[in-house]
Amino acid sequence: MTSEQRRPFVGGNWKMNGDRAQGTELARAVASEVGQLTDAVDVAVFPAFPYLSGVGGALADSGVMLGSQDVYHQPDGAFTGEVSVAMLADCGARAVLAGHSERRHVIGEDDRTVNKKAAATVAGGMISVLCVGESLGQREAGETDRVNERQTRLGLGGISPEDLQRVVIAYEPVWAIGTGKTATPEDAQDAHAKIRAVVADLYGEGPASAIRIIYGGSMKPANAEALMAMPDIDGGLIGGASLEAADFGTIVRAGAAVAR
Ligand code: PGA
Repeated sequence: MTSEQRRPFVGGNWKMNGDRAQGTELARAVASEVGQLTDAVDVAVFPAFPYLSGVGGALADSGVMLGSQDVYHQPDGAFTGEVSVAMLADCGARAVLAGHSERRHVIGEDDRTVNKKAAATVAGGMISVLCVGESLGQREAGETDRVNERQTRLGLGGISPEDLQRVVIAYEPVWAIGTGKTATPEDAQDAHAKIRAVVADLYGEGPASAIRIIYGGSMKPANAEALMAMPDIDGGLIGGASLEAADFGTIVRAGAAVAR
């Protein structure tokens, strides 16, 4: 399978930003910006928990998917403050992030926790966007490939080949997130190809060539097309630029352009 055959995935990670009115307004604006592009590109937005239903309502007549920034792996029970896969599905979510660098490095989630979240998400029939990526210190120490391999192997642990079809891997070098620094298309391509090789080692060539690996870290209208034109880069996970519907729409259009 070539990059032309993998359907691009472009996600907007809104993080802990905005309020209810702004979220609903942004969702409406994204839906109208993106329009029919969802025929060619999987597009998702990831608002904060309290706004899921409101944003879902605003997206109802569009092809834009609702996503959640987090989940807890248990189905139900005495887990105060946590939210299950089924609860998210009930609110209309169809995708969930796992292992975003802010969850790993600010909140302190380890690979085991990330794996449980990813596995529960795909077992529940939703898309898991499994985020991996090295920190600046790891990059400077020459550990980029080793970190990406470890996070990919552990993140996918126990996930069946069938459930793997609902995994999207996001390569997000930590030093590029929210910093304005972007990996060069060549560096990102190199990391994506190596992550794909890890998936091939785990599941074989077929699943590895089918899985979507998207880039995140200061992706914006000015660099999106060059990044997504690389053979192993199948879309993007967008933070800052996803808070502006016009910018996000331009990035989705870049995804659609490279899909053709
Ligand atoms: P950024 O965030 O686009 O603001 O760098 C990306 C992300 O955190 O997913």
